[in-house]
Amino acid sequence: MKILVIGSGGREHALVWKLAQSPHARQIWCAPGNAGMPLERAAGTGKAVECVPLQADDLDGLLEFAKENNPDLTVVGPDNPLAAGIVDVFQRHRLRIWGPNQRAAQFESSKAFSQNFMAVHGVPTARSGVFSDAHGAKMFAATFHGRCVVKADGLALGKGVLLAYNQHEADQAIEDIMLKRTFGAAGEQVVIQELLEGMEISLHALCDGHVARLFPTSQDHKRALDGDNGPNTGGMGTFSPAPFLTDDELLDAARTIIGPWQRGCAAEAIDFRGMLYPGVMLTADGPKVLEFNARFGDPETQVYMARLENDLVELLDACVSGTLKDIQLRWSAHSAVCVVMASGGYPGAYSKGHVISGLESVASLPNVKVFHAGTALSEGEFVTHGGRVLGVTAWAPSLEEAQGAAYAAVDLIQFEGAHFRTDIGAKALGHRAPLA
Ligand code: AMP
Ligand code: GLY
Repeated sequence: MKILVIGSGGREHALVWKLAQSPHARQIWCAPGNAGMPLERAAGTGKAVECVPLQADDLDGLLEFAKENNPDLTVVGPDNPLAAGIVDVFQRHRLRIWGPNQRAAQFESSKAFSQNFMAVHGVPTARSGVFSDAHGAKMFAATFHGRCVVKADGLALGKGVLLAYNQHEADQAIEDIMLKRTFGAAGEQVVIQELLEGMEISLHALCDGHVARLFPTSQDHKRALDGDNGPNTGGMGTFSPAPFLTDDELLDAARTIIGPWQRGCAAEAIDFRGMLYPGVMLTADGPKVLEFNARFGDPETQVYMARLENDLVELLDACVSGTLKDIQLRWSAHSAVCVVMASGGYPGAYSKGHVISGLESVASLPNVKVFHAGTALSEGEFVTHGGRVLGVTAWAPSLEEAQGAAYAAVDLIQFEGAHFRTDIGAKALGHRAPLA
């Protein structure tokens, strides 16, 4: 098969790495990709992955490329082309593409849509209201004495969510989003949610429009600094499985969240084929959905691909065909840990173009894979080219060993200003419950 992957981050490198291992993979393109992608070779032919200089949101350019090169399957990584309707466009041209169509992608592209859907179909979530006027939003926030979360309705690059602990902070957040438009047009409407307390986990369920196959648990680390301090980022590291749920509790969470979600989709004729990724808070009252994403998580994908034993080409192809019921997911018993190495200053301003050294030493380590994110090639050397630069991923029989291996690899890699958290997985190691 010829496969086109859209996106350029660590998530897409992990997907490309896993897709390339399939004997079905004869040729893989990535648009726009990153400097790590061409290191992978399609198992069916030995051909190196090729980067195509087209941005993920350049729908016209991507369609043109696909019409000329006829990929048998296109796989969409990031949310923005999904929200812009790339799946509908490709389908109109009879091109096979993996990901939710524009209507289904609203679970991520509109928090108001998701919140209304959850209210109607009984998906457990925080008490919420959707507002298009600041006064109404402030009045609702007051019912929580200002302890609430203010979310811009639309896509805001993983930002657009402000936590408030009193009414003054809530009013400020509402004004910033709705009146000052800190997150642009995404702030036309806001969702106000009660502030939930508990452990946060990521769920992933692969869907083919009928069947949903649940992935094991994982946990992201959204804050920039150790101990969950500092500003929110796209994600500084992950591990899987997350020991905060037993197998039974995971199934229970799926039953209470994915069950009503599926029935709601059926009732509203929403054909969701792709990845449903609910961010979930494990509260004293049970698991509650904070938000839905309609794509693979980044950096959750890095640890999932390290553990997935199925052929990813077959899996994604089955989603498009609606034949996922014939496939059971298989996972290695290993734990996996991904430590993100970021540019100094990220998620704020940072400089680019710093030479990355040590990648060759890490390449020879067993059970370690460095996924590239913001990297480029300059005069034959890998250089930094984005906020999140690398996802250093390791797997081992125990979480402790996987964590040790990931950090041993991180220690071998250097670039000016490199910043990473030193506590990825620490919460799980302090946790004594049986592994899910
Ligand atoms: P979201 O993009 O909606 O997942 O929000 C980003 C982050 O804000 C989440 O990962 C949580 O850490 C936090 N968050 C969102 N909603 C809530 C909530 N209702 N209560 C507490 N924290 C929240
Ligand atoms: N792991 C955060 C995200 O993908 O949105």
